[in-house]
Amino acid sequence: MVARRGDRLAALAEQARREHGVEVRGVAADISKDEGRAAVRGMLDQLRSPIEVAVLNAGIGTQGRFVDLDRDTEVREVRLNCVAVVDLASHVLPGMVSRGRGDLVVMSSAAASQAIPYMSTYAATKAFEMRLVRGLHRELRGTGVRAFAICPGPVRTAFHRTGWGKDLPKLMPTESAGSVAARTMRVLNRRRSNPVVSSGPLAPFTMRLSGLLPESVSAWGAGVYHQ
Ligand SMILES: NC(=O)c1ccc[n+]([C@@H]2O[C@H](COP(=O)([O-])OP(=O)(O)OC[C@H]3O[C@@H](n4cnc5c(N)ncnc54)[C@H](OP(=O)(O)O)[C@@H]3O)[C@@H](O)[C@H]2O)c1
Repeated sequence: MVARRGDRLAALAEQARREHGVEVRGVAADISKDEGRAAVRGMLDQLRSPIEVAVLNAGIGTQGRFVDLDRDTEVREVRLNCVAVVDLASHVLPGMVSRGRGDLVVMSSAAASQAIPYMSTYAATKAFEMRLVRGLHRELRGTGVRAFAICPGPVRTAFHRTGWGKDLPKLMPTESAGSVAARTMRVLNRRRSNPVVSSGPLAPFTMRLSGLLPESVSAWGAGVYHQ
């Protein structure tokens, strides 16, 4: 498990050991930075058992008019949501392919399915992840290795407070992080699955709708909502 805050990571690792009897290694690292990803690659190389499932989940999302947003934060968002995914996926996939088994899970978003004004960088990074997985899915056919992009709609986590400075509206239909994890596990346990997986009450509907509408129309609608 990887996150920047080592104290929370240690507490979660301890809880996982206690409640599930699993062996847990935690690395406190900022994977938007080269040195953080190097630390994670180093930890992965030391694992005694091969990697069966790699979940690339860490991500941030900013909101606001692009011209008003902090440049460094926007660049860090791309480093975390895109560069770290490419770096760590390319570190774990060759071993999986040579063993003929393994799953790569990338936590994308329903936001991947269209341009979203006032969340322009975020939607673009999530589209990057989704397209990357679609490509990998084809490339990996016949290797025994699978790649999935999980695309939840709104999930009640710290995400919105961290990136937007506010929580989701109270009445918005949402799901829990546990429900996204359960959906992911169900997909992994199936023999055949679509590589792009929506999750939650809203995502199947919004993703299908944005696939049907011209991009200019879906971007207009999202812009009206998010302004
Ligand atoms: N919440 C939603 O509505 C929603 C919807 C669709 C998709 N998603 C996606 O779900 C994923 C997880 O988001 P979440 O909702 O669980 O957000 P969250 O509550 O803010 O959690 C983000 C996690 O990533 C870690 N993290 C953040 N920046 C990091 C960095 N630079 N290096 C290493 N770890 C880092 C955080 O730990 P530290 O802060 O300790 O580093 C935390 O564990 C993201 O990719 C997001 O795009 C979220």
